[in-house]
Amino acid sequence: MIFFLGKITYHYVKSRSEKLYIVPLSHSYALFEILGIPRVTTFHEQVLYVNFRVNTYSPTMLGLSEDRKWLFAAPMAGYTDTVYRRYARKFGADIVFTEMISADGIVYSYKRSLRYLMFHESERPIGVQLFGSKPELIAKASIMVAELGFDLIDINMGCPMRKVIRKGAGAALLKTPQLASEIVEAAMGAKLPVSVKMRIGFEHPDIDGIIRLLESFKRLGVVFVTIHPRTASQGFSGSADWNALLKIAKKVDIPIVGNGDIFSVDDLRARLTDEIRGVAIARGAIANFQLFSQLRDYLEGREPESASLAERIETFINFIHDEIALRGERQGLAFLRKFFVHLVRGISGARRLRAKLVTETKLEEVIEILRKIAENTKINAQYFVD
Ligand SMILES: Cc1cc2nc3c(=O)[nH]c(=O)nc-3n(C[C@H](O)[C@H](O)[C@H](O)COP(=O)(O)O)c2cc1C
Repeated sequence: MIFFLGKITYHYVKSRSEKLYIVPLSHSYALFEILGIPRVTTFHEQVLYVNFRVNTYSPTMLGLSEDRKWLFAAPMAGYTDTVYRRYARKFGADIVFTEMISADGIVYSYKRSLRYLMFHESERPIGVQLFGSKPELIAKASIMVAELGFDLIDINMGCPMRKVIRKGAGAALLKTPQLASEIVEAAMGAKLPVSVKMRIGFEHPDIDGIIRLLESFKRLGVVFVTIHPRTASQGFSGSADWNALLKIAKKVDIPIVGNGDIFSVDDLRARLTDEIRGVAIARGAIANFQLFSQLRDYLEGREPESASLAERIETFINFIHDEIALRGERQGLAFLRKFFVHLVRGISGARRLRAKLVTETKLEEVIEILRKIAENTKINAQYFVD
């Protein structure tokens, strides 16, 4: 049986024979679902049966518990690489994400984009975060990442960077809700769970607009939505508006993961409410993997174990060795430089230490400086005062 559909836009989907086809996308999904008819479509005069599934994924398929709030390691460009994500999982994150990767870059095989796709089995469950504004490229990239074995596709609707916005991707999608839904729908073709990460508006908080968008995502079968309750224009200024987040979470029937400004167990305690299904942590965990174990302790009803700077540094030294094993000494240290800033923040004499660490080009020297900091903070916190 062939249905002649108005060709509005196109989808890439995999047929049962695992081949890739372009499929005309209809707006009459509801009719198909109600009638329980599989979609049939034509391509090069061939009739294909497309196994279209809606809403068949659940967070439990990703190992996300029903009895406990979830703890995510939020994506961070330039930080959350494969090594970081292994540590995040080891220290208690339920799920990790790649940094945002251009769907166009994947489809056109740009080396820069493909590099970010590397992951290790021990990271699972792992989400790949895609950004883009062209449904057909999102569809194709989604199928490619599904082939690579990712567990989840997360669509970026929160990035405020100009080079991303200019192309209509990231947080710009909040201004084009129809396109935002088409993007999600395109990702669904890869037959992996799909989630979305977003802010609460572009220039101004737009609670009603976000709620409408989430209702559409719910219909499409999105498994959860992570919300950083700042607007795109805000960048990182002001504070994350968890009240706005709560208002949204109360109105929608889709799991909401809260994100923003959680740097300690106290921050989490003050923000977490019944309506919020979990939390995602970004900046707080940079050079501080112990934050994951502390938050996990709290979420599982245990007394969170505090970690001394010396312990944090020991973990960080192991992290350095693993990064160097992956990238080599020169590139590894260049990659790690931005972490040092976070590591020494708040320590007396931080400016001098930071300057030393970021200019050092030998691994042994870096380790020695870090060990000295650890040793001296144990003995005398004031030792490093300039
Ligand atoms: C350096 C940096 C890079 C980031 N890169 C991404 C990214 O690639 N994708 C994304 O969705 N969010 C990205 N974010 C936003 C974070 O995931 C998170 O939403 C934000 O930092 C708020 O959480 P926090 O207060 O725990 O840091 C980035 C944030 C930082 C600081």
